[in-house]
Amino acid sequence: MARVFSGIKPTGEMHLGNYLGAVRRWVDTQPPAGSAEARDHHAIFCVVDLHAMTLPWDPAELTQSTRQLATMLVAAGLDEARSLLFVQSHVRAHAELTWVLNCVASFGELRRMTQFKDKSAKHGEAGLESASVGLFDYPVLMVSDILLYDAAEVPVGDDQRQHVELARDIAIRFNGRFGDTFVVPKATFPAVGARVMDLQHPDRKMSKSDESPQGTILVLDPPKTIDKKIKSAVTDSGSEVRHDRDAKPGVSNLIEIYGAVTGLSIAEVEREFDGKQYGLFKAAVAEAVVEFLRPVNTRFHELAANPDEIDRRLAVGADAAEALAEPVLARASLAAGLLPRPR
Ligand code: TRP
Repeated sequence: MARVFSGIKPTGEMHLGNYLGAVRRWVDTQPPAGSAEARDHHAIFCVVDLHAMTLPWDPAELTQSTRQLATMLVAAGLDEARSLLFVQSHVRAHAELTWVLNCVASFGELRRMTQFKDKSAKHGEAGLESASVGLFDYPVLMVSDILLYDAAEVPVGDDQRQHVELARDIAIRFNGRFGDTFVVPKATFPAVGARVMDLQHPDRKMSKSDESPQGTILVLDPPKTIDKKIKSAVTDSGSEVRHDRDAKPGVSNLIEIYGAVTGLSIAEVEREFDGKQYGLFKAAVAEAVVEFLRPVNTRFHELAANPDEIDRRLAVGADAAEALAEPVLARASLAAGLLPRPR
């Protein structure tokens, strides 16, 4: 079975979109405890704190978000008997391999990355001028994350497709130039994507809460807050609970959310609320979301009350990740002609 690697950035709090789109998928891809795949670290997940520094950041917040995200992932069901979880900056090989690959990646291909263009151009020419070199180099760091673990599959959202393509290109280029060194990875996308949209602006993806506090459901929101956010979600002037992304984006989003948290299909949700008012529908969605998040919420608070346990998990994860990454870094360094350090 192919090894799977994925990463998630500790910026802002986790919202329902992250949870349904990425985290739940990760939890489900973990091999069974005790299996050969589990022993072989078939599934590796990383809190990518170095990537969180590519836009201006607050140090205390970064520390806190990193710990909180790791705690959240454990609360969501990443199980140490089934997968490996670690923090990117704890394994130095990520930064080191990035340097080597920086010298293989070209300026032109990085300049063409749409995420870089979007994030740097947000503030016009001045934005580009002040964008960090880290933001520009973000994709190469991500390539290193993937290649260091001989990962064959990288489950990501659609917005990361281009970065995984770059990982393929660079792996192929490096192998061609310096001999077979890296496994060439490929991106995998969810078969049926729960694309969770903003509750206030259903034409755009649910995103960080500071951009749209009322439109974003946080996994740690208290039930009352979730209830209020869903009840004030925008719908449309009609009255039918019917799925039609173009004509009824708000209602369609709520239908998809309800389906994702209850396991019902869109058609089943439509049938359940056939002839019912929006008010009743929204109340049902709110209750379903609250119940869906309750166990994660409870587990999160239990774990957060006992930070030693998370520290222990992250220490074990970092050791195991390092043991996998170091030989790959050594292989790449040797292939590139760096003189091995005499022992
Ligand atoms: N760039 C990814 C995102 O924003 C996060 C990420 C960093 C990642 N390194 C990775 C994802 C390696 C997959 C594999 O979502």
